[in-house]
Order: sequence, then C-alpha cells, then structure tokens
Amino acid sequence: MVVSNSRLASEAGIEILKAGGNAVDAAVATGFAMAVTYPSAGNIGGGGFMNIRMADGRSAAIDYREVAPLAATRDMYLDASGKLTNKSVVGPLAVGVPGAVAGMNEALSKYGSMTLAQVMAPAIRLAEQGFVADSAFSRGLTGARNLLGQFEGKTVFYPGGEAPKPGSTFKQPDLARSLKLIAAQGVKAFYDGEVGDSLVAEMKRSGGIITKDDLRRYKPEWRTPIKSTYRGYTLFTMPPASSGGITMTETLNILEHFAPLPPFGSVQYTHLLTEAYRRSFTDRNEKLGDPAFVTVPLEQLTSKDYAKTLAQQVNRAKASKTPTFNINGDGTNTTHYSVVDAKGNAVATTTTLNNSYGSGVWVRGGGFLLNDEMDDFAAKPGAPNMFGLVQGEANAIKPGKRMLSAMAPTIVLDAQGQVLLVTGAAGGPTIITATMEVILNVIEHHMSLADAMVAPRFHHQALPDTIRYERNGLTGVVVDSLTKMGHTLQASTGIANVNSIMRVKGGWHGVFEPRSVGGAVGY
Ligand code: GLY
Repeated sequence: MVVSNSRLASEAGIEILKAGGNAVDAAVATGFAMAVTYPSAGNIGGGGFMNIRMADGRSAAIDYREVAPLAATRDMYLDASGKLTNKSVVGPLAVGVPGAVAGMNEALSKYGSMTLAQVMAPAIRLAEQGFVADSAFSRGLTGARNLLGQFEGKTVFYPGGEAPKPGSTFKQPDLARSLKLIAAQGVKAFYDGEVGDSLVAEMKRSGGIITKDDLRRYKPEWRTPIKSTYRGYTLFTMPPASSGGITMTETLNILEHFAPLPPFGSVQYTHLLTEAYRRSFTDRNEKLGDPAFVTVPLEQLTSKDYAKTLAQQVNRAKASKTPTFNINGDGTNTTHYSVVDAKGNAVATTTTLNNSYGSGVWVRGGGFLLNDEMDDFAAKPGAPNMFGLVQGEANAIKPGKRMLSAMAPTIVLDAQGQVLLVTGAAGGPTIITATMEVILNVIEHHMSLADAMVAPRFHHQALPDTIRYERNGLTGVVVDSLTKMGHTLQASTGIANVNSIMRVKGGWHGVFEPRSVGGAVGY
C-alpha cells in the first residue's frame, strides 16, 4: 500500500511493488513521481527524511536535508538596519543545497532491490508523456502565480498565461530529460554533471550562491532513528537534523505521566497536550540544530526522567506561560508519504521544498523548482520565521549546516513488535503535533484510522503562546474553559496534512489527508 498526496505518485509506487520491488523501491518511485505530479512539495530540488523499518527488524533513517551553501553567512537575510528581509523565502538566496536525489538513491542502494532506472521509470513517463491535471493541481498553480510568475517556470506552469485547466494533459519535457539523465548516470548527473550544471547556471543568472563545489560536497547522512516507548507501543522517529523525533518523544514521555489521557476533545485533554507541547517546543526551539555543528542533548531530552520533572511542573487547573529562552545558546507545503509491502517492510518519508513551490526559482533546462529551505534556519535568532517559530543560536546559519526541520516520518510498532502505523505530515511545526495527535487518536482513543485522521487537530509551539485549533474543532464550552484557565486560543483553517497506513485485521488501511488531496492505493 502507498499513501501520498498524489494518487498518480501512489500508483507509481504500487507499479513498482507489483513488479516485485520492496517498500523502499516503492517509496523512491513515489518520491520521484511526486516531483512530477505534485510540484508544490514533491521535488528533486529540495530534501527530506526517510524512516525505514524492515520486516527482519532492521531500522534506519536517512537524512537528506538541504545544507546552507558554502557562501552563506549568519546575517545574509538582514538588511542594513538589521531587519529581516524576505530573501530567505523567495528567490535564489533562499535555496539550500538540495539533498533529495542523493538521499533517495542512498536509501535505494542500501535497502532497495531495484535499480534507479527501474524505480524512476514511472516518474519519467509521467513527465514525458504528461498526466491529466485535476482541479487541485490547477487551483494550486493558479494560487501560486504571484510567486512562480516571477521566475522562468512560468513558461511551463502557465502555458498561454493560465494554469493548466482541469482535464488537460500537462507535460514537463525538461524535467523528463533531467530524470532520464539521473536514471542513466546516477546521482552524478545531479551533483557533478549536466543537471547540476543547469542548477548552477540558474544560480549565476539569478543571483544565487550555490556552486558546483556545493553540489559535489553534498552528502546524505544515515541516522539512528530515535526509539521511544509509549504505553507498550514502540515508536521509531526522526533524529536531528529534524526536531520531529525529539519533540514527539519528549511530549509523549510527559503525557505518559497522565495516562490514560482524558477524553478526546475535553478541556483537560487539550490543556494537558498544550502544556506538554509548550515544554517540548521550548526545548526544541532553543536547543536543537544540526548535530554536526551543535551539541544536541538528545539523551536528556528523550529520557523518561527528564519528562517526569517536566510533568511535575504541569498544573492541571491553570495554563503556564512559555518562558523566554536563551537565544544565545522552521512551508506550508511539505508532503509525507507512507509505504508498506507484502512482507511488512515499512517506509515513512517526508520531503519538502519548504514553502509551496519553494523559492519559486525554476531551473532553466533542468525543469525543476528549487526549495526555500534557508528560512528554516533562525535567520535572526529570537525573531519569528515564516511559521512564527522563534528559535535560537543552535539553529543559526553556517555554511554547510543543515537547517532544523520539524519533519517527523514515524513508524509505530504494537506490543508484539509488528508495524502498527506508518505516518507523518506536512505543515511546518504543525507536523509534530498533527502526527502525534493521529498516533494518540489510535493508541489512546482507540479510533479507526479514518476517524483518527479526520478528528479535529490543535497546535501549540511554545511561542506564540497560543492554542491554534481547527474552527469548530473544540466546542464553545471547551474554548471558554480553556480561556478561563489562562490559555489564549485562535481558530484556524485545517491544520497539517497527514498521510498514514495502519495495520488492521487481515491487511492494511491507508488514509490520505481528508483536508487535502491524495491517493491511498493498495492491492
Ligand atoms: N520545511 C519544513 C520543515 O522542514 O519542517
């Protein structure tokens, strides 16, 4: 089964599974297909994290997060008066050195069973022969015209000045050529070959700073997944350079002290989760960064003892305040996909350009969009980024450094050690809270996966000190009571974009995000 935000990409993964590939082969096929069919977040010009659990018990995680270019500087996004500009979000300076091609290839070589050319075949076909645009694809591009219209991709995305109409066939010949070069020559085509040359030429033309040297030096990193437990279940989550795993583990460890948790949607449930989120996000925002550059207190933050001290600080009747943290001491459109194969191998992958359609910069000749992942650094430690996240020096910009992510591809095992859930999300910092809430809905509230996914979500990230909840997701009485306890609340539109698979009696149940688009395909 494959669940992603693009039905065509899920079908690409299924094609590979049916041809005898395993879950890793299918995940890589899905990833490349997403770069074609879901250009707002699927990519070869961005990065991500893949969390793998093989049926034989091996666990691994690959970090193919972008890195800051060698010419990046700490204050590159500040103007002369020290004010933040939007150059970390839009345009060539926003681009981190892409890791997607290297990371997917690395995962395939170690855990896959097929060649790059085999798993890339569906993506190449989708780019070359085109696919039928649906209304979501067309609407997404129409909404992005202000961004994409500034760059060369406008010729492809707005043929005749308009986004492709639903029902029309959309082809990407330049992208097909790049994908074919990668399939034929391997990652070298991207990092030290023709595709990379197009990227560097685009940088030179538009005023960006990524060089051939940056591309040649890029390396994905194998990481040991964070293994944690919650009430008899085992979670494998993503360690730094993502904050996802540590923040989820710390939150669940705090909540374990209040288990079984109060009923879903109640005042006490919302209060306790908020107080746990507040504490784990405070640590996240202050202490986490690329482990190659800062010492990350992983053991401490994920320990049960530490969580106990934090749980003891929670007042069940009153909201606490987020402390100011020692700053000297992360688009809205990422995408997650989940895969399982017949043997029980499982892959959770989250990948991103950061903002929808990334920096907007499109590589002429290469045919792909580049990320704006540099905004996930603390461009000005102590000042909020695009997601309102206030982060510290640990995540300040340095050449070659990975920007902190919230991506949290997660695999949950049941008490028998079998894969129960494969999940993860898009949505900046709401990735962490939404992924956790889906997991809690299943294992605490005993919901079916369909109910767990549709259930209203809320989010708190320490600063701003506000509970953001989906409009009508909390009753008026609950909102009033939480306000009386000292919480500030704000109603919002849908929170996050989760794609999950769950083991059910006799097979698997896949559910794509009910608030968005996608495809859950199995056989
Ligand atoms: N760009 C969103 C994240 O990595 O958290």
